[in-house]
Amino acid sequence: MKELKSAKIAPSLLSADFGNLQRDVEMVDQSQATWHHIDVMDGLFVPNISYGMPVIKTIRKHAKKPLDVHLMIVDPDRYIRTFADLGADNLTVHYEACPHLHRTLETIRAAGMKAGVALNPHTPATLLEYCLEVTDLVCLMGVNPGFGGQSLIKNTYEKVRDLRTLIDSKGLKTLIEVDGGVTLENTTPLLEAGADVLVAGSFVFGSDDPAGTIAALASVEAC
Ligand code: DX5
Ligand code: ZN
Repeated sequence: MKELKSAKIAPSLLSADFGNLQRDVEMVDQSQATWHHIDVMDGLFVPNISYGMPVIKTIRKHAKKPLDVHLMIVDPDRYIRTFADLGADNLTVHYEACPHLHRTLETIRAAGMKAGVALNPHTPATLLEYCLEVTDLVCLMGVNPGFGGQSLIKNTYEKVRDLRTLIDSKGLKTLIEVDGGVTLENTTPLLEAGADVLVAGSFVFGSDDPAGTIAALASVEAC
């Protein structure tokens, strides 16, 4: 019989109240979340600009849990050392922004961070076949990146299953994260498809009880 498992939850601070950022970081620290998810957007790779180094420095000062940093920027290699110095624990770059992805992932690990790669909705999971050995985390975008509050694209489930098969066939421990459009309604099917980590922004911070919503997401169990 297959074991029941639950997802690690990584609330996206993109949907936090920036006027009360310390309060929201502390709420996540005291909740059942596993990581803080930090979205960095440059206005080039995605059509939006979020926040950068000074804000992340402040988050790091208050945060007790690991920082899961998602770079939606062109040429992320320029900033690997900077994010290591800022205290990022996981550093995720986009497949679509890295012509030498294998080297980028090795550089992230050499800088002392977990190496993550994110895939836009149109990018097949199988393209990672020869990089998985140097990948700690694959972030499958459930929406086109750039904005919070969008709905999960339905073929994400199939993509999670494809990646789960690939990772298991290689006997690896690479984590599968789904980012964008996560709600309590799709948590069970995402877990069943093989996801390990769920990023949730608007569903958490837009709720009346963010800590309770994180607890609800973290308590869902599936095979
Ligand atoms: C989207 C970001 C996500 C976003 C998720 O480009 O990478 O992390 O904050 O937000 P929701 O959960 O609202 O879709
Ligand atoms: Zn993200």
